[in-house]
Amino acid sequence: MQYVLSQDQIVKRNEVFVDFEDRGYQFGDGIYEVIGVYNKKSFRMKEHLERLERSAKNLQITLPYSMEELDQKLEELRERNHFENGWIYVQITRGVAPRNHPFPTPSPEPKLIGYTKEVSRPSKESYENGVDAILTKDIRWLRCDIKSVNLLPNVLAKQEAIEKNCFEAILYREGGFVTEGSGTNVFMVKDNKIYTHPSNNYILNGITRQAVLELCKELEFEVIQERFDQDFLLQADEVFITGTYIDIVPIKKIDDKVIGKPGPITNMLRQRLQIKIEQE
Ligand code: PDD
Repeated sequence: MQYVLSQDQIVKRNEVFVDFEDRGYQFGDGIYEVIGVYNKKSFRMKEHLERLERSAKNLQITLPYSMEELDQKLEELRERNHFENGWIYVQITRGVAPRNHPFPTPSPEPKLIGYTKEVSRPSKESYENGVDAILTKDIRWLRCDIKSVNLLPNVLAKQEAIEKNCFEAILYREGGFVTEGSGTNVFMVKDNKIYTHPSNNYILNGITRQAVLELCKELEFEVIQERFDQDFLLQADEVFITGTYIDIVPIKKIDDKVIGKPGPITNMLRQRLQIKIEQE
């Protein structure tokens, strides 16, 4: 039996009902988080919930209760499901109201749902040999820092990658500037310097990205958080992507350009991230 968190109650999955006038369903008017769970322990729950709170604030979605309470309830849910490895998904929509674009008045009660999901991680081979990626145009809006459930451009980009037998789509904006992956952040290494897009409205500031930046600091690697273009990316010595539960995945080929086997910096960061996840 799978249990889910519905508002502030833990209930059986088949007891959850979504109203067709939920604004998340009709407008994508909602926010979410995906939190990795490793051997019963969630990684950086606090940071994920802080980001959820920020997303809510940016969209003027009222949170149904405090993040401390949500933290406790998600842990309760994890225990109820005897959940050990995978991710926890949590979503909050603006609520249910007759379909009309502006925010409904009075404000409806926001709708919260949380569930646990066993997911397989990328294969051992993917980590050891790297995976392939494509480059595709970033057609998203200009508030990619908000983790909203509007993921259609991300879905289309990922689908394009899958149809080309690739693991991820790396996105670029006007002028060829690389932003991030369809569901990951992108890093590249050139001449022992690490490059990644700065944290602004063009990307989601990944929790894994932040953990990797901490590691770079600990290891005294030089990091340049400035935008770079596709041509520069294709000249990289190493490329890797980061994200919840996949952690760090090396990229060995982008379109037709071979980047090569996972390099020493990628491998070192991957190893260190694993330790961080185990120890925290
Ligand atoms: N995706 N960029 C985008 C566009 C993302 O959707 C994600 C996460 C990331 C990485 O963020 P983090 O390290 O906090 O997971 C970057 C989640 C996992 C998803 O939508 O399933």
